[in-house]
Amino acid sequence: MNRDLRESFHRAYLTFFEQAERTRRWNLFTDIDWDSLDTTQADPQLATNAETFCGVEMFLPDYLTAHLELFGRNYAQAWFAATWGYEESKHSLVLREYLHRSGQRTEAQLHDYADTVLAKRWERPYESPREMLIYGMIQELTTFVVYRSQRTMAMDTGHPVLGDIYRLIGRDEMAHTKFYQHMVALHLDEDREGTLADLAHVLRTFRMPAEQLLPDAESRSVLMRSTGINAQVYLRDIVAPTLAALHLTRHDLPAPPVPAPAELVRPPLDRE
Ligand SMILES: [Fe+2]
Ligand SMILES: [Fe+2]
Repeated sequence: MNRDLRESFHRAYLTFFEQAERTRRWNLFTDIDWDSLDTTQADPQLATNAETFCGVEMFLPDYLTAHLELFGRNYAQAWFAATWGYEESKHSLVLREYLHRSGQRTEAQLHDYADTVLAKRWERPYESPREMLIYGMIQELTTFVVYRSQRTMAMDTGHPVLGDIYRLIGRDEMAHTKFYQHMVALHLDEDREGTLADLAHVLRTFRMPAEQLLPDAESRSVLMRSTGINAQVYLRDIVAPTLAALHLTRHDLPAPPVPAPAELVRPPLDRE
């Protein structure tokens, strides 16, 4: 990576970090109104969803390993990984606390769940650093969209504490999305043609990390239902805003046009 790009990344990281420190830090122990949690209001579906997303967030060691393998010798990107990792570490932890404090899971169940989840390993889905940056950008926005729909569901069913948890997590995911979009925009400035080719490829082949971790069709379809992401939502809430943020349209992407209709006839989580 050339020096100009490295310096631009560094400025982008400083801005990201400053905003996070000034406006976005939240405390798992004091910023959630745990005292108002109604332990008589169990909701099996919301609890299963929270457990699933907690599980996806639990692959943090694998996400960090992949990031540091690719970017560990780049100052800004390595420091971003450290900050990002701290923020992400709270996401699984706060959902775990919710499941426990709401009385919907015991400590033993949560330890068993962690053992089951961590017995698997997440492998990074793309080879090149630039493809992985693009993947990170899409993945962060996807998690934002998922948490936004969970927040609505929690609020609509009278679970304001869970709704508030999803609000705080979702705000982090949106900040991560914006940082990745900034990095990808810098890549576009540096090598427009190559970056557009990578972007087209990742948008066409994107899958949520949970997909490779869930072995059977049944658990994939449970996940699919709980995320609320289907082909239409993927196009409308993930692909379109991403292209708009990068000042691109579908016509800027090299052929085959993205999204390729055949790829998205079925929901992205349900392909193959
Ligand atoms: Fe997260
Ligand atoms: Fe995130």
